[in-house]
Amino acid sequence: MARFYIAPLVLCLFQAGHLLGQRLNGSTAVQTHPSLTWLQCAPGDSCRVVNASITETNALSWYDWFGNDGIHCWEDHVWNGTICPNVQECYDNCGVHPVTDYAELFGITTSTDAVTMRFFTQSNVLNIGNSVLLLDPTSTQTAPTNKYQIFFPLNMEFSFDVDVSQLPCGLASSLSFKEISADGGISEDPLNKVGAGWGTGNCDGRCSTDRQFIHGLPNVGNMLGACCNEFRLWHGNAVSETMVAHPCSAPGLTTCTAALSGGQCANPSCDVTGCSFNPFREGIPANFYGVGPTFAIDTSKKFTVVTQFITDSNSAAGALTTIRRFYIQGGIIIPNPSPRIAGITPTDEFTDKHCAEQKVAFGESNVFDSLGGLATLGSAFQRGMVLEMSIDEDRVDHMLWLDSTFPPGADPQLPGVIRGLCGTDTGAPVDVETNDRGAQVVFSNIKFGPISQGFFQSFISS
Ligand SMILES: *[C@@H]1O[C@H](CO)[C@@H](O)[C@H](O)[C@H]1NC(C)=O
Ligand SMILES: *[C@@H]1O[C@H](CO)[C@@H](O)[C@H](O)[C@H]1NC(C)=O
Ligand SMILES: *[C@@H]1O[C@H](CO)[C@@H](O)[C@H](O)[C@H]1NC(C)=O
Repeated sequence: MARFYIAPLVLCLFQAGHLLGQRLNGSTAVQTHPSLTWLQCAPGDSCRVVNASITETNALSWYDWFGNDGIHCWEDHVWNGTICPNVQECYDNCGVHPVTDYAELFGITTSTDAVTMRFFTQSNVLNIGNSVLLLDPTSTQTAPTNKYQIFFPLNMEFSFDVDVSQLPCGLASSLSFKEISADGGISEDPLNKVGAGWGTGNCDGRCSTDRQFIHGLPNVGNMLGACCNEFRLWHGNAVSETMVAHPCSAPGLTTCTAALSGGQCANPSCDVTGCSFNPFREGIPANFYGVGPTFAIDTSKKFTVVTQFITDSNSAAGALTTIRRFYIQGGIIIPNPSPRIAGITPTDEFTDKHCAEQKVAFGESNVFDSLGGLATLGSAFQRGMVLEMSIDEDRVDHMLWLDSTFPPGADPQLPGVIRGLCGTDTGAPVDVETNDRGAQVVFSNIKFGPISQGFFQSFISS
């Protein structure tokens, strides 16, 4: 549907002879990307340091009116209706400009293998939330040779440390594999002149409509959603955490149309709810995850999250059948807990069977299965995935689906309704943006390598 919308515009713009698009304001501009190292491991637990960098996808919000430096065409989730009354005029009037100070503008700092992202940063503009994508170490600063790091997760293990001690109810950190084009869509989208170095091409399994740009065009009015296969290895705060699989019916980025500005798409190509594994929601006793020494995972301190992607042939050529999870804190390995809900097999593994049983127990329709379940995500993993790390509020559901009772009016006695101990009155943007301005997440110690006992052991010794 979106294609029909865009095509006549593209023709019209080219006939006008303008160099329009999601373009730089000036051709020599370059972004400064904070550096971040990670470990690429090989069999036998030999790891090498990759000197990489990250790019902020919110950098697109520094989308300036060509007429005046101080005017932003999009800021804090609002399009300026004077200079961006529609897609074409927005293109005529605006261009992205380089960001050189991530700390000042985004509240993002890095130190060797750690990235700290703040939720709320007020400089000359207000920045709420952050989302960064990992760049390939050979990436250059400018198009067309800037590109994202591509991961092939099948038959591999991914681990990271996370510190959510400064993330209260209503806010969340996230770490995801997403099927984003390596070049940020620049080769598919002639109107995109900037590419991966500027964080373009972002999409997700919830088909979010809050993207500023889709296929190189401004998403004025937020009527379009950008969908793509996504596996969220991590979505959590100090109170609750979950992993979520969102398969889609098509590879790469597809668009969908919202009925209302900024609303949900009527025709998403992905399982927007997804199949999740939130220990609290699976009936695990409340002392598994939370703030303080009485919890198995004490969220007042950092811990390691390990995820293994197991295939039916135990090779990267196989179909994804099982996702296995464990945690490490203070040198102790903490297995993923087994569900304790009637009708759900008590196994710590994330499989299609677990999803099917969970959907029945929780009374949800199994869109996950109708879109091919884990095998569909596995196909995306074979094509390659981009790594995103983020921090955000939830403007629609106030993060209640993660850390509270959801839907808010539902009977808390029903299986799957309680997801965490936060009140249903928490997480409203007006509250978190006032009271939780110091909120932040730290991701560090990213490791990617084969599933092996040696690799596993390295966590215990490190
Ligand atoms: C990464 O950076 C470190 C420190 O600057 C350097 O010693 C190392 O050689 C670099 N590694 C690669 C693969 O470039
Ligand atoms: C963008 O370009 C216009 C016109 O050339 C210039 O006046 C303005 O200062 C530029 N803005 C930025 C942020 O570079
Ligand atoms: C929107 O842009 C116009 C310039 O056309 C400017 O005068 C106005 O202040 C802008 N509004 C906001 C809220 O920035």
